[in-house]
Amino acid sequence: MPLPTDEKLLALSEDLIAQLQAIFGAYPGLRPAHAKGTMLTGTFTPAAGAASVTRAPHVTRESTPVTVRFSNSTGLPLVPDNDPNANPRGMAVRFNLAERSHTDIVSHSTDGFPTHTGEEFLAFLKALASSDLSNIPASPLGAFLGSHPAALAFVQTPKPAPSSFGRESYFGVTAMEFTNAEGVTRFGRYRIIPEAGNDHLDDAATAAKGVEYLFEEIVERVKTGPVAFKLMVQLAGEGDVVDDATIHWPESREVAELGRIELTAMVPDEAEAQRHIIFDPIPRVDGIEPSDDPLLELRAAIYLISGRRRREAK
Ligand code: HEM
Repeated sequence: MPLPTDEKLLALSEDLIAQLQAIFGAYPGLRPAHAKGTMLTGTFTPAAGAASVTRAPHVTRESTPVTVRFSNSTGLPLVPDNDPNANPRGMAVRFNLAERSHTDIVSHSTDGFPTHTGEEFLAFLKALASSDLSNIPASPLGAFLGSHPAALAFVQTPKPAPSSFGRESYFGVTAMEFTNAEGVTRFGRYRIIPEAGNDHLDDAATAAKGVEYLFEEIVERVKTGPVAFKLMVQLAGEGDVVDDATIHWPESREVAELGRIELTAMVPDEAEAQRHIIFDPIPRVDGIEPSDDPLLELRAAIYLISGRRRREAK
């Protein structure tokens, strides 16, 4: 896949990668965000009726092999699983359609994002980097949050740690445009819901956990049976804003089921697999188009630039 040629977009991409590395440190061969991760394989099986939402191949075929990477937040490769900054957790899903043909979902465990644009996210990171976190109100971060209510709302949203990567819900955040075989088009946002139910820990229970508790737990869990999720899509209603990840749609909106993700095994040689795989926030498949959310094109460029560097790192 070629990189976009828009120079402003490329410069912003480089600035964001550099700013993440300024905050967390640069670790060649690892990701500048969601650095600590683990990978599993399994199968996606579409739900009856899912074809009324999209004609995408994985939703119209009987089943599709999937590869999933769960991750902690931050660019710290050793962030303890029980560190509050390890939230939100990430879940990136690849639907392997054929040899070298795939479509992905990149989601995290908070329904929303602090900023509408990448420029604002860069300003947020810069404010964070230059702030005394023991006195946020008097810091650049305090000023940023004071003038950006969506960022304040995101920062204040509770982000409790899950007891397992398999007992957390994950949100696609940016809307996609789904088209079915009749050409009927609707915007929607992914939600990936654990069949075992959400299970979150309070602060004391989190602190009592080990620094690798999630990474150890998932290895044991998958030995005892599939780790299953429902792939859902919240469908936009008339007038809902579909190009801004900071704006929530009413909870009363229809949520359609696209299918079931069943994870059955850890990926062997996963350090190499993690290094190689570059998830793409843009679906690039018939039946699912990106919305005009400015985060999508930007993130696709960033993940590709960063992923290529990771592959080339010695
Ligand atoms: C301007 C906004 C954003 C920036 C600058 C950004 C930056 C990054 C970077 C640099 C990476 C590492 C990519 C790689 O090396 O492969 C990454 C990965 C990731 N991001 Fe973002 N991100 C943004 C928005 C989001 C949003 C909205 C979500 C949630 C929907 C998200 C979830 C993730 C996840 C789950 C990963 C790990 C993917 C994997 O497992 O390979 N990010 N992000």
